[in-house]
Amino acid sequence: GRIVVVYGGRSAEREVSLLSGRAILTSLKRSGVDAHGFDFAGGGLSGLEALAPECVFIAMHGRDGEDGSLQGALELLDIPYTGSGVLASALGMDKERTKQFWRAHGLPTPESVMLEGTVDWDAVIETLGLPLIVKPVHEGSTIGISIVGTREELIAAHAEAARFDNAIMAERFVQGEEYTVSLLGDEVLPAIRVEVPSGFYDYEAKYHSDTTRYLLPCGLEADDERALGELCRRAFEVIGGSGWGRVDVMRDAQGRFWLLEVNTVPGMTDHSLVPQAAAHAGLDFDALVLRILDTTTG
Ligand code: DAL
Ligand code: MG
Repeated sequence: GRIVVVYGGRSAEREVSLLSGRAILTSLKRSGVDAHGFDFAGGGLSGLEALAPECVFIAMHGRDGEDGSLQGALELLDIPYTGSGVLASALGMDKERTKQFWRAHGLPTPESVMLEGTVDWDAVIETLGLPLIVKPVHEGSTIGISIVGTREELIAAHAEAARFDNAIMAERFVQGEEYTVSLLGDEVLPAIRVEVPSGFYDYEAKYHSDTTRYLLPCGLEADDERALGELCRRAFEVIGGSGWGRVDVMRDAQGRFWLLEVNTVPGMTDHSLVPQAAAHAGLDFDALVLRILDTTTG
């Protein structure tokens, strides 16, 4: 049957998604799969349905593709798709509600507050300390995120985040090391430590920079890496994630891990993290793509 790779769309991560989608499509064709690409921005749901997919490989990041919308539409059309279902996708796209779930399950995630209505900036700073992080609740790829060190920067960062989302959160900044753990089916792939000379793994560092360092093996003691992997597996499990995903984590100076967010449609560009972790586990890109397809439940 025909596999349709859906990418693009209208989200702020459109460009990243085009790269992920094309890489996946090329790979599937290399493996001899009858695969077609579909830019959701150009065709919408009826265009997708007209391709009569046996299965949809979702490579659309952010709004529409990663937030449960496309998943719900495909459920209605009875078309199987890769990755998490409606609920886990919607939850995972909402950074604040994801954290509420984690807290309810006793999993560690930095304290946060929503910046709603008339914000009491001093109270936010009092609660979270400085520096702190301001994030759009529903974005990816670090779009609209700022680290702020002063009240003035906090106000400016809120305005910047508000360009992308109507829900904005502030989060306690965890000074330390950044890790990411990829999940594939029941497997926890090797953790990657991300080191950025600027200290901030932002959009530029993610997709354009050649100085971002990916440490793999990540340098943790075996016990610590196992604990990190188990934490991330749990973090994915409690939001109901399935198929594949990636969990981003900070490790503070005391060696404690803090969950930041989950990605239910992680990047698959040549700079991306899941392909690197898979390669380290002995799965090249083509094998990884086929494995993700394999995790699909009808
Ligand atoms: N949101 C981007 C695509 C990632 O998590 O890899
Ligand atoms: Mg993300």
